[in-house]
Amino acid sequence: MKTIFSGIQPSGTITLGNYIGAMRQFVDLQEDYDCYFCIVDQHAITVSQERLALRQNIKSLAAMYIAVGIDPNKSTLFIQSEVPAHAQAGWMLQCVAYIGELERMTQFKDKSDGKEAVSAGLLTYPPLMAADILLYNTDLVPVGEDQKQHLELTRDLAERFNKKFNDIFTIPEVRIPKVGARVMSLQDPLKKMSKSDPNQKGFISMLDEPKQIIKKIKSAVTDSEGIVKYDKEKKPGISNMLSIYSILSEQTIEEIEDMYEGKGYGDFKGDLAEVVVQHLKPIQDRYKALMASTELDELLDAGAAKANQSAGKMLKKMENAMGLGRKR
Ligand code: TYM
Repeated sequence: MKTIFSGIQPSGTITLGNYIGAMRQFVDLQEDYDCYFCIVDQHAITVSQERLALRQNIKSLAAMYIAVGIDPNKSTLFIQSEVPAHAQAGWMLQCVAYIGELERMTQFKDKSDGKEAVSAGLLTYPPLMAADILLYNTDLVPVGEDQKQHLELTRDLAERFNKKFNDIFTIPEVRIPKVGARVMSLQDPLKKMSKSDPNQKGFISMLDEPKQIIKKIKSAVTDSEGIVKYDKEKKPGISNMLSIYSILSEQTIEEIEDMYEGKGYGDFKGDLAEVVVQHLKPIQDRYKALMASTELDELLDAGAAKANQSAGKMLKKMENAMGLGRKR
C-alpha cells in the first residue's frame, strides 16, 4: 500500500482554506493509502507562540482532524514533537540543504519581509518539513498550492541525499486538488485565506458560529457587475465564492451559475452562507464532543507510538548512510 504524509500547523484557528485545500482530501485518501497526519508543532514555533495557546491549539487541531473524518484506526494521527526523529532527521537534512535555496523560498521571504528579528528556524523550516515527509517513505503529499515550492525542495533534498550517501529515500509526489487549491481571502480575493490574517473578516474559521459565517460572507468583497459567473481574472471575489460553494455542495460551478441566472449577489451570498453553515454543523458538533472527552490523549499516544516505530527505522538508515554514531 502506498503511503501518504501531510501536516498542519497548530498556529491558530483552522480555516475553511485549510479544510478545502488539505483536510478534506485526507478523509477520502485514508481509504486507499497508509496515512500519516501530523500536528506540526515544531513548525509552529518558527514564529513566536504563546505557551498556553500553543498547547490549546495542538489539542484543538487533533480534535478537528477527527471531527472532519480522520479515523485514527485507519490513519496514524500524531504530534510532531512526540516523535523526536523529525528534529533529528531535520538537522541532517539542514546539512544537505544550501542557505541560498532556503533563502529563495517564497514563504520565508513573505514571513521575514520587513522584520528585524527573524528566527533561524524560519529559514530552516523546509528541511524539517522534508524530514517529516521522507521519514515515512512517503509516496504522496496532499497539500494546498502554497506548499508546492516546499515539496519541490523536499524532492531535491531527497535526490541529493540519495546520490551523495545512499539511495534510501522514496521521492514523494505532491497532490494538489483541482478545485480549492487556493481559497482566497473574503476581504481581498487576490490574497490567500489565512489564519494569520489580522482582518478576521477575511477568513472563515472551522469553529465560527452561524452568525459570524453569515456576516463574513455578506460582507465579502465582490464586483459591481452583479452577475454570478466564474471569471478568476475579472471577478476574483465571486469566483472564489463559487469554488467554495461548488466544493461544499458537490455541484459543478456551471450548475451553480445556472441556478443564479438573473439573481443578484445578495441571494447567492445568503445561500452560500447556508451551505457553509450546514456543512460545518456536524463537524463542529463532533469537535465539541471530542474536546470534552478524554479520548484524544489515548489516540495521540497510540499515534505517536506507531509513528516513532516507522520514523525510527528510517532515522537509523539515514545515520548509517551519513556515518553518524556506530553501526548497529
Ligand atoms: P499550514 O498549516 O499553513 O496549512 C495546512 C494545509 O492547508 C493548506 N492551506 C490552504 N489550502 C487552500 N487554500 C488556502 N487558503 C490554504 N491555506 C492553507 C496548506 O497548503 C496545507 O496543506 N508547511 C505546512 C505544514 C507542514 C507539512 C509538512 C505539510 C509541515 N510539514 C509535511 C505537508 C507535509 C504548512 O505550513 O501548512
